[in-house]
Amino acid sequence: MLRDKAMSGLAAAGDEAALEAWRIEYLGRKGQVLELLRAIPDLPAAERPAFGQAANALKGELSAAFDERAQAVAQLKLAAELAAEGVDVTLPGRRPQLGRLHPSNQTLREIYGIFAAMGFQVYTSPDVETDEYNFELLNMPPGHPARDMWDTFYTTTPGLIMRTHTSPGQIHAMRALGPNRPIRVILPGMCYRYEQVTARSEMMFHQVEGLAIGRHITMADLKGVIAEFANQLYGAGRKLRFRCSHFPFTEPSVEADVDCILCGGKGCAVCKYTGWLEIMGAGMVHPTVLRNGGYDPAEWSGFAFGMGPERITMLKQGITDIRYFFGNDLRFLEQFG
Ligand code: FA5
Repeated sequence: MLRDKAMSGLAAAGDEAALEAWRIEYLGRKGQVLELLRAIPDLPAAERPAFGQAANALKGELSAAFDERAQAVAQLKLAAELAAEGVDVTLPGRRPQLGRLHPSNQTLREIYGIFAAMGFQVYTSPDVETDEYNFELLNMPPGHPARDMWDTFYTTTPGLIMRTHTSPGQIHAMRALGPNRPIRVILPGMCYRYEQVTARSEMMFHQVEGLAIGRHITMADLKGVIAEFANQLYGAGRKLRFRCSHFPFTEPSVEADVDCILCGGKGCAVCKYTGWLEIMGAGMVHPTVLRNGGYDPAEWSGFAFGMGPERITMLKQGITDIRYFFGNDLRFLEQFG
């Protein structure tokens, strides 16, 4: 019988698609119930009222049953969705990943702290420099052979280069803070060199420059400041030595070494069996540079130094390759925090 078949079909329809198929089959415009109603005019007149009533009753019953089933299916669907999306409030939360300070920045902050205690302020100057500031005002006119010490990245704008060292900041600081006042600043920043990248040399690295200008500053002040710095950074009791060197912007020029922090001066692979580690280039500010900064060298003198925080960090942390610093590898960076 049509009613029983329809009812069992409805009971079996378990989702929206099956329900819709059922509705079209039985209650649709071409469905079986309407077919019954359409057949009425062909019946003998005496049978029509009873048949019509029965067919309409069936239509009403099936429509009601459909609505009920549709509601039940919707409830089931909602319950299934809620079960799938349910939040288990007893689960532990996910820990947010905490950022860390880059190892270079940790060393930079340590350096700032040590020099702040000695009265040095931080002064920053631009990464993109003019040839004039990077070389000429530092006593290296065009064609000067010492320019070869710093392989340079040139920009497409003539005369503009990426600074090869933080020393041009000396001129900026003197011109901004001088001319007739003492200066005590450190100048941290990125430097860029068109260099062969190796385990010890990057083409992008930090430097921290130091500059002190006063009326009676001598080489002894330079030595005292560097010795204090080395003792603070590498541990008390460090030995310090100066070796003769050459920079066009300092006279005399030195390179400062501390006794090896790993072997204490006995000789090891880190200090290449010399017992000493180079920590910076330094010297007394050249009279020409003082003059270029607006200071009269007959009255004023000063010292300057420049060091590399990445090399310092390598020594302190036992890092064997400088290329890790800017390789953006979290496995490296996450070890420092
Ligand atoms: C200079 O750049 C001088 N301007 C330093 C100076 C300042 C001397 C003031 C006198 C007075 P140098 O090229 O040696 O010097 O670099 C200084 C430090 O920067 C080095 O000791 C080293 O620690 C670091 N450095 C230099 N080149 C690289 C490099 N390719 N990768 C990483 N660190 C470097």
